[in-house]
Parts: sequence; C-alpha cells; structure tokens
Amino acid sequence: MKPHLKPILWENRNLHIIDQTLLPGALNHIPITTLQEAEDAIKLLKIRGAPALGIFAGFALLAIVIHEKPKNVSEAIQIINHSADVIKKTRPTAVNLFWATDRILKVVNNTSHETLNNLLNNIEQEALNIYQEETKACEQIGIYGSSLIKNSTTILTHCNAGALATGEYGTALSPIYIAYEEGKSVHVYADETRPLLQGARLTAWELQYAGIPVTLICDNMAGQVMKEKKVDMVIVGADRIAKNGDTANKIGTYSLSVLAKYHGIPFYISAPSSTFDLNISNGSQIPIEERNPDEIYFFNNKRIAPEGISIYNPAFDVTPAENITAFITEKGIIYPPFDKTIPKTIGNKNEKK
Ligand code: MRU
Repeated sequence: MKPHLKPILWENRNLHIIDQTLLPGALNHIPITTLQEAEDAIKLLKIRGAPALGIFAGFALLAIVIHEKPKNVSEAIQIINHSADVIKKTRPTAVNLFWATDRILKVVNNTSHETLNNLLNNIEQEALNIYQEETKACEQIGIYGSSLIKNSTTILTHCNAGALATGEYGTALSPIYIAYEEGKSVHVYADETRPLLQGARLTAWELQYAGIPVTLICDNMAGQVMKEKKVDMVIVGADRIAKNGDTANKIGTYSLSVLAKYHGIPFYISAPSSTFDLNISNGSQIPIEERNPDEIYFFNNKRIAPEGISIYNPAFDVTPAENITAFITEKGIIYPPFDKTIPKTIGNKNEKK
C-alpha cells in the first residue's frame, strides 16, 4: 500500500504543506514561514478543507513567530495575536480555522510563560494536540462510517473531504478508505466541483492514488447518475454545522441533498466535532464566503464568458438538516432529531460561555 497522504508536515519546527493548487500535475511540498505565505496559502487554496485549515493555523502561528525571532515573551505574544487576527480574516466559513486559532490564543494569552522557550514549547504542544486529536477523529469517523458501507457499495461524493482536507484519512473519504481496507468492494462517483475542481483535481487523484475505483462526473450529472446507476449513498464533508444540523459545505452540496432526497438515497455528512458550531442555532447564521468572480469568468486562463458579465460566486451553501440522514462523527453516528442529538453527542465543548 502507498503511504497515507499527509498534506501538513511539521518536522524540526519547520512547516511544509502540499501545494494543492498544483495537483494532480505535481505533488510538491512548500515551506510556510511568514504570515504573508500563510495568508496566501489559505486564500489561494494551497491548503484547504475545514480540518486541515485548523491544523495548519496552529502550526503556522508557531512557524511565523519562530521566523520573526522575537526578543522576549511580550514581543512574541504581540506577533502571535496579530498573526491570528490576519489568519482569521482569510476565509469565513470553515469554523475549524477559528476553533484552532482560539485554542492557540488561549494557551498564549491565558497561561504565564516564564521564558520565550516556554512559550514556544506550550504553543507547539497545543498545535500538536490539535493535529493528533483531529487525525484520530478522522480515523474514528472512518471506523464508524465503514459500518454503514456494505460490500459492493456505490458512493457519490462532492468536493474533496479526503486526506488532503484533513491531517490524514479525510472525513467523507475516511469511511471509504476503511471499508476498502476491510476488503469491501466500493465504487465512488466524484463530482468535479466547479469552479475550482476540488473533486476532479483532488478527490479523483487521491482515490486513484489509493487504488480505489473512482469515476469522475461533472456536477450537473449527479441526478442522471442517481437515476440510472445504483448510487447507494452520498457522503460529503462539512465546513460548519449549526446546532440544529443545518450544514455548510462546498457549493453544490445543497442541490445534491435535494437530488438524494428525491431519489430516496441516504445523505451523510462526515465531520469531526471541531466542525460543529453550537453557538449558532441554524444555518442562516453561517457566513458564506464569496470568492473572486474570475474563478468563473476564466477557465484555464481563458475567458469563457462575455466581457463585463455579472457573476456571483458563493463558495459554500447550506444543506437544511431535514435533507441529512445522519452525521458521521468521531463520537458516533448522530441521527435525528438533530436539535436534541447534536448537543447531546457533541456536548457544550464548542459553545462559548
Ligand atoms: O473551498 P474548500 O476546498 O476549502 O472547501 C472544502 C469543502 O467544502 C470540504 O467539503 C469541507 O471543508 C470538508 S473537508 C474534510
């Protein structure tokens, strides 16, 4: 078997990430040392996917402050607080980015650090905790999720919620990896996921890399595939899940949920508890990122729409809880009524006091 994909590497206090904008053409790791590099990496989607953004933020804050060579603890704390402010402004939807940044800030601002080295060690420990907890969560999601996958199952997925979007394993793809390792026969349909093609460039690539049978389709083919092929289940990831189960994920997830409901196909959201935001009661409160119109206006650097045309480019949508069969989490599979089962299973850990 090929080694598991790890998009984020932290070795000898150096941070490297797979530059996901280069896939599937090249598998390149790039160093991240400055705030500008970290900000660009997130905004340009060199690193992306909700859990990966959280893990990245933890290590990036440490890499940045080490690179700046502060003279004392208070200078270091200033650099970290400023960098955290900038990082939190990069992308608004995935709650993991805020959850992880706040965990680091809590260590930085609410603990006393006798020396600069103490401070750096404490941050490093918390960043590693986040990485290890999230990776373990993804593996456990796979174990729970695989129990839903029978032998000979066809699964449709959207965007990339695989290893590349996490520390390892993935969320939506983790049950598929584990089912495959358990010897079950699985076949995946991957939506290409316009406009930035995370399905075509990343999901199709990483499943092929793992040797899992995958067929790539355009987003607008999902309905036809559900109608004429046997799609047994849809599994997608999430960027933020409200207390009532409304779920933000990559644009196109909502329409997929409507299609699945029409065709009577179970629709699962796979996510770690860090993606649940129990501070918001429903999906209308989830901020939806709007991206540069050029992502739609151009394809492969060629303009594909009339000059001056009006373009709307929301990067995420919200799937209403009523379209969701269950949530696959590291704490178990959560079934409706979600307004009761989500707070009970995820707990108040993610709720601000
Ligand atoms: O814009 P992206 O590529 O960051 O969007 C990613 C998604 O929507 C994923 O489905 C989600 O973050 C879950 S990743 C495990």
